[in-house]
Amino acid sequence: MKVLAFTLFCLFIAVNEAKVYERCELARKLKNSKLDVVSGHSIANWVCLAYYESRFNSRLVGPPNRNKSQDYGIFQINSRWWCSNGKGTTANGCRSSCSAFLDDDITNDIECAKRIVKDPNGISAWVAWRNYCRGKNLSKWTQGCRL
Ligand SMILES: *[C@@H]1O[C@H](CO)[C@@H](O)[C@H](O)[C@H]1NC(C)=O
Ligand SMILES: *[C@@H]1O[C@H](CO)[C@@H](O)[C@H](O)[C@H]1NC(C)=O
Repeated sequence: MKVLAFTLFCLFIAVNEAKVYERCELARKLKNSKLDVVSGHSIANWVCLAYYESRFNSRLVGPPNRNKSQDYGIFQINSRWWCSNGKGTTANGCRSSCSAFLDDDITNDIECAKRIVKDPNGISAWVAWRNYCRGKNLSKWTQGCRL
């Protein structure tokens, strides 16, 4: 019985492991949330950004930044400005705990991204977008996705 309980426990852990989104699955979710309309940037920009920030891993916690802040979830939302992780000061612009950006349901991550792009930096707030997506031909990121 103990063995069975342990096996079930491991299964539970496995099922709850990092959800890595499929490219088109993510694209559809972002489209349905109207992130393109709200942000003024195409879905391909956001799929590219998420790929280079988190490799589509909704549970990713980034390594501590030099200034000790950390980045959370599929969009690697920063704890200094947008969420609270209980360490150090935060502007907490999205009024959220950082851990809330680590589950498989990325609805709240998308809502926070909508808030982040409203700032003057816009989508340039994401270093990965500036380095890998800006000015690139992004059509491959949504290619073959029924949006
Ligand atoms: C800390 O570093 C992160 C990542 O480099 C950056 O996004 C954030 O704005 C920085 N915070 C401050 C207060 O400089
Ligand atoms: C972008 O790349 C796709 C194929 O990857 C190509 O069909 C398209 O013509 C390219 N667009 C531009 C503007 O270069």
